Amino acid sequence: MFATLEQLPPDPILGLGAAFREDPSPDKVDLSVGVYKDRAGNTPVMTVVKEAEQALIASQATKVYLPAAGSPGFREGIFKLVMGEQAAGLRLRTAVLQAAGGCGALRLGAELVQRAQPGATLLLGDPTWPNHGPLLSGGGLQLLRHPYYDPATRSVVLQPVLDALSVASPGTLVLLQASCHNPTGVDPTREQWEQILAVITARRLVPFFDIAYQGLGDDPDTDAWPIREAARQVPEMLVAVSSSKNFGLYRERTGALLVLAEDRDRASAIESHANKAARAMYSMPPAHGALIVERILTDPQRETAWRSELASMCAHIRGLRSKLAEGIMAARPGYDASWITRQRGMFSLLGIARDDVNTLREQHHIYMGYDSRANLAGLNEDNLPRVAGLVAPLLPGN
Ligand SMILES: Cc1ncc(COP(=O)(O)O)c(C=O)c1O
Repeated sequence: MFATLEQLPPDPILGLGAAFREDPSPDKVDLSVGVYKDRAGNTPVMTVVKEAEQALIASQATKVYLPAAGSPGFREGIFKLVMGEQAAGLRLRTAVLQAAGGCGALRLGAELVQRAQPGATLLLGDPTWPNHGPLLSGGGLQLLRHPYYDPATRSVVLQPVLDALSVASPGTLVLLQASCHNPTGVDPTREQWEQILAVITARRLVPFFDIAYQGLGDDPDTDAWPIREAARQVPEMLVAVSSSKNFGLYRERTGALLVLAEDRDRASAIESHANKAARAMYSMPPAHGALIVERILTDPQRETAWRSELASMCAHIRGLRSKLAEGIMAARPGYDASWITRQRGMFSLLGIARDDVNTLREQHHIYMGYDSRANLAGLNEDNLPRVAGLVAPLLPGN
């Protein structure tokens, strides 16, 4: 049966992670895979997560299945975290489904749409996170790409985005990264968001938000602002939430799908279909990570501790951005690197030519995406000056 299958090349991003691990050089720097790293280059378990996990293990009396929609406490906690305290009135109109990470939530959303509108179209900015395509088209959506980013000005190309939305038919889905855009690091400004949401509302399009870095851009509330603003304007939308980065729960596969519906009955019908779609794929979501998040978000003291730990992770990344910009400007007098500090989240699409990306990896052991996406959390005091010095002459522009 499987004789027809040829070996596939490694995943572009995960393959770089594997190559990095095998590189024996003491000078190697990993800016490839998108995980948070501390000053020592580790991706630690957050202190509040460790404590909540120990409390969970100490009190857990069963490993029996969760309900198909997930743990009720987790679902309430995530709803509040993403939609905000003021959105309590929207809760009855919102189906909240626990999912296997942000990836699982994106896929569950696509499967759900497929049940309601087979062959529905989704608009997707270019560039975007490479896994959006396979996850969403694999769930049956037809993808239509539009420009998102101008490398010359390192900003969102607003007019082409608005043009693409303006000609889309009512009911078309629009994938929107709420904050910390992957791979560019460039989010729309508030004014740009307002214009984007105005066209979405006028054309009766359906936002499909992806929020995978809530709290790593500014803070959890600011980073969720576009979602909360959209919720005030549109009758229906989807939100894929990941707890991988902001709770550091990567391997626990923790996330949620929120679906805002026109009314309470619709929300309930959506939940029943999402449960059926999940049942046909994996039955029930994994429990461990979600129960840890639940313990944090339903306990005010733990939540405060989590917000403060997350804020220091966010400040650490911002500090690295400032130091990288300074290092580049020191290595290349007259060059304005302030764009690095204006970007949000862990990523920056540096704009370095592919050959130079390869040279950085092969000769200097600095690993980043082939498109020059760099996870700046991989920098630290030891490696930053060398990276800044090597990257500075390769950046386009003057
Ligand atoms: C933009 C974006 N969306 C969603 C995800 C999914 O995250 P996970 O499935 O690990 O929770 C990621 C992970 O890298 C991401 O970068």
